Amino acid sequence: MNREDFPILNQEQELIYFDNGATTLKPTVVVDSIVDYYTKYTANAHRGDYDNSLKVDILYEEVREKVQKLIHNQSKKEIVFTSGATASLNMIVFGFMKYQLNVGDEVLITKSEHASNVLPWIALAKELGVIIRYIPLEDHKVTVKNVEKMITPNTKVISIAHVTNVLGDERPIDEIGKICKENGIYFVVDGSQSVPHVPVNVEKSNIDFLAFSAHKMLGPTGVGVLYGKEELLERLEPISLGGGMNATFDSEGGIEYKELPSRLEAGTPNIAGVIGLGKAIDYLLEIGLEKIHAYEVELKRYAVKQLEQIPNIVLYNKDLANGMIAFNIDRVFSQDTAVYLNHYHICVRAGNHCAKILKEDLQVRNTCRISFYLYNTKEEIDELVRVLKDSENIFKIVL
Ligand code: ALA
Repeated sequence: MNREDFPILNQEQELIYFDNGATTLKPTVVVDSIVDYYTKYTANAHRGDYDNSLKVDILYEEVREKVQKLIHNQSKKEIVFTSGATASLNMIVFGFMKYQLNVGDEVLITKSEHASNVLPWIALAKELGVIIRYIPLEDHKVTVKNVEKMITPNTKVISIAHVTNVLGDERPIDEIGKICKENGIYFVVDGSQSVPHVPVNVEKSNIDFLAFSAHKMLGPTGVGVLYGKEELLERLEPISLGGGMNATFDSEGGIEYKELPSRLEAGTPNIAGVIGLGKAIDYLLEIGLEKIHAYEVELKRYAVKQLEQIPNIVLYNKDLANGMIAFNIDRVFSQDTAVYLNHYHICVRAGNHCAKILKEDLQVRNTCRISFYLYNTKEEIDELVRVLKDSENIFKIVL
């Protein structure tokens, strides 16, 4: 749907873009909003007393309300703009958890988490002596039963992706959020692969912290969101200090921070990026996330039905209702498959997709990943299938 809105899809050289889990294409409205900022009213935010600067303030702050509409939280103060989901997760771990957790406290994660939701915890575990425990996966999925089994009196945090980035399995976050609430456990959710594709409601799911990036949801790179419940963000120590976040400081070392959310946004923010994110949210909400998700599921079913017929294709997540397909050509290195597909201008991602410990569960080191978004079509899938069926060809072109 809406292909005419994406200039990159309307060039002479046809492009089949199936790498939306890595980043998405950008519609004209998003690109124009960024160009407008740079060509018509460039100014810093929260620092000027002239028209363009005041305009920037209004547009920048309005985006917090758009994010609120997207994730259904209580207050604008709970929306912090960051450079992306990675920065948001690092702020949660090193600005909040570092001051709340003690030696022996347990953090539950899974083996299918992205590096951004593993490495900060490993660093914190080394620093504080907290213990990382992995919720066992069943058929690669998180079950409520296994979450319950893993909880001990020392469990202080559950930190998981809502939707994972290789297999795209959706976690039962409403139930896990309830368990967290009942047991006084902080619930951290990486929404990088869910916020762009399915409705998210932080209140309903009792999410304490949510992280996501603009570039995976039609917005620009270099901007993301940290949501946190207000009373928790009030206790989150800024890990970046500087202009824009302080109310005053003196030569004796006295510092007074601003209120939320400015306190957590040191330095000149990515103004163009935030404005672009606002346009992307408007665009997605106008279509509707339920509709986008249903369409992606339909594309996946269509693709799986055909891919299953190709004898040497191995599918790893064919039964999951989402827009991702992890696959390999039997006995072909996944990167070679990606290079082969590139020959036909088909973009997929190959490798371990930054989820480097998933291989312990999946029993395969690397996969190719197709990840759909709203502008993909069944005709594009037909072309992929045509190319993959010609398995002789891969040896001529790549190997
Ligand atoms: N995290 C992104 C992906 O899964 C880059 O591809």
